[in-house]
Amino acid sequence: MSPDPEPRPHPTAAEVEAARRDPKLANVLYHDWEAGSYDEKWSISYDERCIDYAAGRFRHAAGDADWPYERALELGCGTGFFLLNLMQAGLATHGSVTDLSPGMVEAALRNAEGLGLPVDGRVADAERIPYDDATFDVVVGHAVLHHIPDVGTALREVLRVLRPGGRFVFAGEPTKIGDFYARRLGMLTWKATTTLTRLPGLQGWRRPQAELDESSRAAALEAVVDQHVFDPSELERVANAAGAADVRVVTEEFTAAMLGWPVRTFEAAVPTERLGWGWAMFAYRGWQRLSWLDENVLSRVVPRAWFYNALVTGTRPA
Ligand SMILES: C[S@@+](CC[C@H](N)C(=O)[O-])C[C@H]1O[C@@H](n2cnc3c(N)ncnc32)[C@H](O)[C@@H]1O
Repeated sequence: MSPDPEPRPHPTAAEVEAARRDPKLANVLYHDWEAGSYDEKWSISYDERCIDYAAGRFRHAAGDADWPYERALELGCGTGFFLLNLMQAGLATHGSVTDLSPGMVEAALRNAEGLGLPVDGRVADAERIPYDDATFDVVVGHAVLHHIPDVGTALREVLRVLRPGGRFVFAGEPTKIGDFYARRLGMLTWKATTTLTRLPGLQGWRRPQAELDESSRAAALEAVVDQHVFDPSELERVANAAGAADVRVVTEEFTAAMLGWPVRTFEAAVPTERLGWGWAMFAYRGWQRLSWLDENVLSRVVPRAWFYNALVTGTRPA
């Protein structure tokens, strides 16, 4: 087994240029660069709030009748948000975290150690998972499929490393329609905030220009990093074609996403110290209330393709 590569949080200009034509290199550089501040940027924690959120996503897709599993694998683990919180919720007794970005694997292993969870990790491309056939009882991922150039190949790899009857759950994938309105709302919020904060009296709300420029440069790489948006029926077809059984795609967050994306963009556009506890509570409670509305009312009348997040589950045929 060759040793894992080292993180590259400070790429050269030539590497960044090459990454514009190479989605996998773009993912490594972008996420190595983000690894150190990722939990803070996305308000990721390993307490009740995120444990409930992660477990809620798994249950929404697949229920929890088979818990606990013995061995769990996560693809595109980032800092470990999904699997570490799922393990704290009781999903599995042993975890393996993998990611294309060495910086992210290091961060996830650090977080696992801090939480005292039995987790090992490898730098790995989801299209070539470095584990033997039938190693895992469950495979999970959050916000990773849309970064993988060949989703069908990745799902075939997932089925190979699952034991017969084992389950996969991928959550947090953008739908085609959801991405359309979320991006526009985000762009509008960015434009409005960065324009208004030029006005006299509001300049204390403006982030230093160098930081705003850096965010814009990162956004340019985002166009390469984000490979797909999904139509729920098409995602089901890809999972079935990969050989999965019991495939199901569910969606969630309609009005909640319409609040969530402008809120996150606003937070990225103004100095963090300007937004206190009151703002955090407004954002979280607002998102919670709208999620309730989406789940209990709108999901009965709005087509599933209009919701922002898709979750896909399936099993390896026994
Ligand atoms: C949006 S982040 C999500 C991280 C984490 N799952 C979360 O929800 O916080 C996507 C992650 O997928 C990883 N990734 C991108 N392409 C990948 C690939 N081909 N194989 C494995 N991981 C990949 C990135 O490096 C990044 O850490």
